[in-house]
Amino acid sequence: MSDASGKSRRPASRGIENDGGLAVRAAAARALVPVITGKGSLTGLDDHQVVARDRALFKALCYGVCRTLPRLEALAGKLLVKPFKARDADVQALLLLGIHQLLYLRVPAHAAVGETAGAARLIGKEWATRVLNGCLRRLQRESSALQAEVDRDPTVALLHPEWLLKALRQAWPDDWRALAEANNVPGPMTLRVNRRHGDREAYLGRLTAAGLEGRLCTHAPDGITLESPCDVFELPGFDAGHVSVQDEAAQLATVLLGPTLAPRPGARVLDACCAPGGKTAHLLEVFDIDMHAVDSDAERLARVEGALERLGLQARLAHGDATARDWWDGTPFEAILLDAPCSGSGVIRRHPDIKRLRRPSDITALAALQARLLDNLWPLLRPGGTLLYATCSVLPEENSEQIAAFLSRTPDAESTTPRDVAWGRPAGAGRQLLPEADSHDGFFYARLRKT
Ligand SMILES: C[S@@+](CC[C@H](N)C(=O)[O-])C[C@H]1O[C@@H](n2cnc3c(N)ncnc32)[C@H](O)[C@@H]1O
Repeated sequence: MSDASGKSRRPASRGIENDGGLAVRAAAARALVPVITGKGSLTGLDDHQVVARDRALFKALCYGVCRTLPRLEALAGKLLVKPFKARDADVQALLLLGIHQLLYLRVPAHAAVGETAGAARLIGKEWATRVLNGCLRRLQRESSALQAEVDRDPTVALLHPEWLLKALRQAWPDDWRALAEANNVPGPMTLRVNRRHGDREAYLGRLTAAGLEGRLCTHAPDGITLESPCDVFELPGFDAGHVSVQDEAAQLATVLLGPTLAPRPGARVLDACCAPGGKTAHLLEVFDIDMHAVDSDAERLARVEGALERLGLQARLAHGDATARDWWDGTPFEAILLDAPCSGSGVIRRHPDIKRLRRPSDITALAALQARLLDNLWPLLRPGGTLLYATCSVLPEENSEQIAAFLSRTPDAESTTPRDVAWGRPAGAGRQLLPEADSHDGFFYARLRKT
């Protein structure tokens, strides 16, 4: 379906019967089981068999339930006399879907109740139809009282797990509430116009002609934010590589590497954690460089290949571990982009399953991996070269504290992160963007120079 930066992939409708809305709810319940049991993410939604006309509802249900999960679960706890058995996580998912529709979606109440309860038959658990019907009807009757009761718990009202709210409050004492609220609203769809095919002003004209409304991004010079999201195949010239989907904050990597790369055509550049290739592609659209792009995940690396093919760009791709050097030919790089694996705490609004799947111990493990990546890659930079460290996290352990520790153990590193920019805020030796409604995601950048 919409493969943000990857190769075009239009989903095939595989002729599944639409069962009056039951099938889409059963499919959503199946897709949600891994998330609600804490065992897997929402990825692979396109692999679920849903008729074309129900796909938007299917995604809205899956993402919506993940986004509002703490509240849905608290309400389910009030509605059920006793919890479902672990093997009935799919029935639990149907209950959460029903609650979500009643409270958050403009689905007629009779469909939210009847078709969700009826979907129990399609998952082979007809016995659950009555229970689901009963719970959802009770919610209709007692909605305000039950909601007020569960909302007394701030983790329920703010839709975040307790450890994460605590971490946000500690990191951003003045902004944590706005930050949590921003995480609960879907982010806008932002485009990156491929400069090799014309500028964004011209592309905005093409969008208007196609009946799509957009506005120029404030900080990213190639960015356009759409007024409402659409399928990528509706975007003029998408197949021909004229445009890609990429958040405004992510587009700033190219701006930050501009002073190093613009004056040096042919510069050797390493993108050390490149997949799915959004920043690799943007750098290649803007600069004439010799790009080496590495990622440890072969499947994700294949997406980089697809993205570059669609955009008509070239890089040397390597499947490798950036905490090792067996993929390196020994020639130093002018610039290194380390867009490190991170908690994703700045992009929760796009990946709401993060709230369920991340654990506090992950942050410690990720910070240790980021430190190893920094230490391993630094010697690959030529003196005078630039390393840009980036994460889509809002947690200091992965960002300002990570870079402070690196600078203190690396005598030939100095920060050149700009201070006179209109985006983000200073965060130690780097700059932090917090997610903003209708604008960019949460992101961190630190630009370091080898002295
Ligand atoms: C934040 S994503 C990169 C996003 C990418 N830069 C973009 O703009 O599209 C982090 C990537 O790091 C990769 N990764 C994780 N550990 C790695 C390692 N040890 N070596 C190389 N890549 C790694 C992951 O597979 C993932 O694709």
